[in-house]
Amino acid sequence: MGLVTGVGLALLGHEVMCVDVNSTRVEELENGNSPIQEEGLEPVLAELLQRGKIRFTTSIETGIEQAEIVFIAVATPSLPDGGTDSSHAVTVARDLARLIHRYTVVAVKSTMPVETLDQLDSVLKERLIPGKQFDLVSNPEFLREGRGLRDFFRPDRIVVGSDSEPAFSVMRQVYQPLIDGSAELPEAFRTDTPIPYLETTPSTAQMIKYASNAFLATRISFINEIAGLCQRLNADVGAVVEGLGLDPRIGKAYLQPGIGFGGPCLEKDLTALVRLAQDNNYDPVLLDSVLQRNHLQLIEVQNKLINGMGPSPVGKTVAVLGLAFKEGTNDVRNSLALRLMKDLADSGATVHGHDPLAIPEAEEQFQDATYFENVYEALAGVDAAVVLNSVAEYRDLDLERVAATMKDGLLVDVRGVLNSGDVLSHGLRYDSIG
Ligand code: UDX
Repeated sequence: MGLVTGVGLALLGHEVMCVDVNSTRVEELENGNSPIQEEGLEPVLAELLQRGKIRFTTSIETGIEQAEIVFIAVATPSLPDGGTDSSHAVTVARDLARLIHRYTVVAVKSTMPVETLDQLDSVLKERLIPGKQFDLVSNPEFLREGRGLRDFFRPDRIVVGSDSEPAFSVMRQVYQPLIDGSAELPEAFRTDTPIPYLETTPSTAQMIKYASNAFLATRISFINEIAGLCQRLNADVGAVVEGLGLDPRIGKAYLQPGIGFGGPCLEKDLTALVRLAQDNNYDPVLLDSVLQRNHLQLIEVQNKLINGMGPSPVGKTVAVLGLAFKEGTNDVRNSLALRLMKDLADSGATVHGHDPLAIPEAEEQFQDATYFENVYEALAGVDAAVVLNSVAEYRDLDLERVAATMKDGLLVDVRGVLNSGDVLSHGLRYDSIG
């Protein structure tokens, strides 16, 4: 989020200094190498570096020397009790406070409860040099990994939460080139659609972010539950999604059944919202069940594999195709594929893993599996395989080769990317979600 925001702001014409504590990462970025897979990022980064519009440093002093606005985009992971770990943001606020020398807007991109924003405000005020001024604003980010730059330049909305008119004014200037379409952007990032710009209070801004992620998660759990019902009632979930999506009140986005929602955001934000509700003596029955369905969905996939392989998984081998938390990224944070691999290994199965982008990251997180760069090598001699995402490589699998290389042919097609008739006609067994 920080890198995409920095690159996005630089392309809007601002001078950007990106600060990170990781010196290897900073060095790589100075050389134009992105540590994350983001569509279109590296060419833009190279050009901005060449023009001197973006710089990278590990020094917060250097980073904010000239800054009129500071974006905080650090991680806010979940605590074991579901609360939000805001320690990174607090550390940044502590370091930042002594360095503020002119009126500075501190814009929080990271998702955090409003009490945490208040805490950052207090930390900044406590350590601020007397006479210096700042305003803290909430500027939540809605970008999706893998297509972050596109989401930055063509957002569905920009949300700014503040109680201060001068801060609103600075934020409007920041986003002005995007709002009035004056920014010179590469073709892929341009849009003629006006971008809604919402100004509100910090707590409402934070709630817009939490509610958005909770709603997306709710749609996914909803369709996963409907998919489970479809399978039991002999209905076709693909056709149900099509029929549902044609109703403009519903639409078809975020209705793709699968193993559940993974990744660093949806589950974390939903858990935080549940926790916030409980802390405020309010029973979040709906949000709680969205999380529960997500948990059960993983077990559903696991059971399909284990039951499909016979009485016991001990001594069996399973190939897991798709290791990142979704396609098009190398991010394995909170990847349900890794949780599935662990559960399978714990139950005595041997696990093979394949992903077009995320093998090094998966290997770092989970060592109890053998990883293969080639999908057919991953499938060699296995009793079952599960396809967890819809990359072209899996969609276009050569089923003749698959049938020849797999020991026993159970294919669990979680994303519905294969044609069941084709799979069966190659002598393989087929199962799916819904
Ligand atoms: C999400 C939000 O979409 C974004 O607005 C917010 O800023 C950060 O969190 P991201 O984590 O990149 O973005 O992932 P997203 O593309 O939303 O997918 C999240 C998870 O849901 C993935 O595991 C994905 O596979 C799953 N998913 C998504 C489904 O199972 N079905 C769907 O229909 C959509």
